[in-house]
Amino acid sequence: MITAHSLTKRYGATMAVDGLTFEVPPGVVTGFLGPNGSGKSTTMRMIMGLDLPDSGSALIGGKPYAELAWPLREVGALLDAKALHPARTARNHLRCLALSHDIPLHRVDEVLDQVGLTPVANRRAGKFSLGMSQRLGIASALLGDPGVLLFDEPVNGLDPEGIRWVRTVLRALAAEGRTVLVSSHLISEMSLTADRLVVIGRGRLIAETSVADFVARSGGAAVRLVTPDPGAFAAVLSAAGAAVSAQPDGSLMVEELTAVQVGDLAAQHGLRVHELVAVTASLEDAFMELTRDEVEYRPTTGAVAGIPEE
Ligand SMILES: Nc1ncnc2c1ncn2[C@@H]1O[C@H](COP(=O)(O)OP(=O)(O)OP(=O)(O)O)[C@@H](O)[C@H]1O
Ligand SMILES: [Mg+2]
Repeated sequence: MITAHSLTKRYGATMAVDGLTFEVPPGVVTGFLGPNGSGKSTTMRMIMGLDLPDSGSALIGGKPYAELAWPLREVGALLDAKALHPARTARNHLRCLALSHDIPLHRVDEVLDQVGLTPVANRRAGKFSLGMSQRLGIASALLGDPGVLLFDEPVNGLDPEGIRWVRTVLRALAAEGRTVLVSSHLISEMSLTADRLVVIGRGRLIAETSVADFVARSGGAAVRLVTPDPGAFAAVLSAAGAAVSAQPDGSLMVEELTAVQVGDLAAQHGLRVHELVAVTASLEDAFMELTRDEVEYRPTTGAVAGIPEE
């Protein structure tokens, strides 16, 4: 179990983490989600004792990291895949970690095998590709067989097979009863990996919820309607309490009514329907909606050619 309570960290004028309170329970994968610069890495560094909070606390099994007797055996983390001695081989990197934390050396070959690096175990880690470094980082996190695991954007730089592999590993670790916290700025990835979400923006908690509730809460369900009688249909829909907007392709987007209700209204009023589709808000939309006011870095103009500004 990881618990953050009123966790706060300021860098000069930047409030990196702002009164953040959340829990990461064992047995499930918790996705730590937020736009770039929202404070995910800073929070994870504070949990790992690499940064000191200005106020509040981050505890692992009820204790701050610094008070853990055998840190690597209690919590493993992949925070920066390139944070290793470049001249050491992958195997030696892991052997050094094992020796300094009193971890049996047979674990080294076990985790190398687990992450698929056995064939390159004697190559210098400094020459590894980003994907290979991520795998080595995951191996380091698993080395002490810890009950609590943190991964900061572990799929960055991985190919589709690697992404699927990380997903499987994280879910398996949680299924073994471990506490797993994994950060990402991609809701699509998190929806496939995580059971729960801790969503932050500008260092503040936006939502702590299941993936399903996250989508439901953000609402946004609508019905797309194509009709040869848009004017008359829009009047009927508005009278029934719907919010109707005409789309550039000539269709109508209807909010506040279900597809069934729209179809019934068509029958009652003798209006023709060519197309009627329930549109569920995508996870991407839900995330954008919730974090809209919390995004720190965004283009100042609609700078992408051909995409008009909203
Ligand atoms: N060592 C530091 N010194 C100064 N400012 C920092 C430092 N680390 C982080 N920040 C600032 O704190 C804020 C949060 O950064 P952080 O790296 O925690 O965000 P993040 O959610 O991990 O972003 P990303 O998705 O881009 O990885 C940002 O505004 C960042 O510029
Ligand atoms: Mg980060």
